[in-house]
Amino acid sequence: MLASGGGTNLQALLDTLGPDAPAHVVLVVTNRADAGALERARQAGVPTTVLRDPADAAELLVALADVDLVVLAGYLKLVPRAAVARFRHRLINIHPALLPAFGGPGMYGRRVHEAVLASGAAVSGATVHYVDEQYDRGPIIAQRRVPVRPDDTPDTLAARVRTAEHGLLPEVVIDLARKIQHTGVIR
Ligand code: GRF
Repeated sequence: MLASGGGTNLQALLDTLGPDAPAHVVLVVTNRADAGALERARQAGVPTTVLRDPADAAELLVALADVDLVVLAGYLKLVPRAAVARFRHRLINIHPALLPAFGGPGMYGRRVHEAVLASGAAVSGATVHYVDEQYDRGPIIAQRRVPVRPDDTPDTLAARVRTAEHGLLPEVVIDLARKIQHTGVIR
């Protein structure tokens, strides 16, 4: 997993992927030495790497070595092109809105939920998608919808979406892991 922030999606995976699951978190990579995700990884006994330069493809590829699937959850750096190419269709991201709406450069965290509320949308949600060379533009794998309530603030909407993310991401990871096990490919 790659994460820059608190790591609640990492925690959801750690909590859901028991000993018999088809996938396990084997490494947490971050660009921030103070990322909360690091502490969660340590608590779970998962190895961690703090990148010296997130734009350095070689450093990232060495860190990822031979992992089967790379999950971005709150990773705020662009993945270098060489790493995208190496892990094409094995590199996924979770985004806190229903892409293709409310995505793209600068659309992360609270700003996403502010934009959803400003648009008047009645529904928001979470999206898991393959990562390509553009922010939030790769093919969509799965989405989970949540209602937008009339009295929502960015924080209340964020909390509802976050809960949806914690259900959706482990489901997708388990599904992709099974596909990798059975076919060696995931598309
Ligand atoms: C999530 O909302 C995810 O969709 C977005 O960044 C947030 C990460 O949260 N890309 P956490 O670090 O997993 O708690």
